[in-house]
Amino acid sequence: MIAKFLPRGLPFSESLNNNAIFVSTRRDRFSDCPELPDRSALFRHIARMVDEPIDYLEFGVWKGASIDEWRRLNTYPESRFVGFDTFYGLPEDWDPQHPAGTFSTKGEMPKIDDSRVSFVKGLFQDTLRPFLAKTEVTRRLVVNVDCDIYSATLFVLGTLDRLFRPGTIIVFDDFYSMNDEFKAFYDYDRSFGRTWSAIGRLPHCIKAAIEIR
Ligand SMILES: C[S@@+](CC[C@H](N)C(=O)[O-])C[C@H]1O[C@@H](n2cnc3c(N)ncnc32)[C@H](O)[C@@H]1O
Repeated sequence: MIAKFLPRGLPFSESLNNNAIFVSTRRDRFSDCPELPDRSALFRHIARMVDEPIDYLEFGVWKGASIDEWRRLNTYPESRFVGFDTFYGLPEDWDPQHPAGTFSTKGEMPKIDDSRVSFVKGLFQDTLRPFLAKTEVTRRLVVNVDCDIYSATLFVLGTLDRLFRPGTIIVFDDFYSMNDEFKAFYDYDRSFGRTWSAIGRLPHCIKAAIEIR
């Protein structure tokens, strides 16, 4: 409705529209799934659902907190945990509080003493396709999207789509970010038409997880 009165591309009207889509998606698709109090509880809830060897791909590593949690939760020797990041921070502005460069570790990668964990340094747009060309993803796939910005999220989802199978899990760290992670998921969903269901969320869908059906 609002788009009738305000031209597309005006950030304010886009945000209003995105907010309306976010609120209705939350109501229609996420109200019946379990609500967890915090990120660690959400991870534990998902890890119980995937009690088997996994291929865990994480987009947005920073200092390694979430990949470290995941490799502790899933202790199967055959599991692999791969973290992708520039390690020089966000490639573009996210919001006024998070300009390009936020989350830089000056190129330093986390040191995690676990041979199942590895990192791929660079822009996803440069590294993901070469990675997939030389890597077979054979185990149940868990994708952790924590890259904050629209362009990165949409690229990751569209590029990984061909690997998604029933049982694939996708976790969104900033699902509430209606102009970025959420909007990218919404646009991906519209374009690729996967069947999915919500499997967990934090209050207000700040963070959320889905399973491909
Ligand atoms: C919020 S931080 C990740 C936090 C981390 N998962 C944790 O648990 O602490 C977001 C990260 O996404 C990375 N990032 C965003 N867009 C990217 C892109 N297109 N290519 C590579 N890294 C990107 C940034 O460098 C940043 O380190």
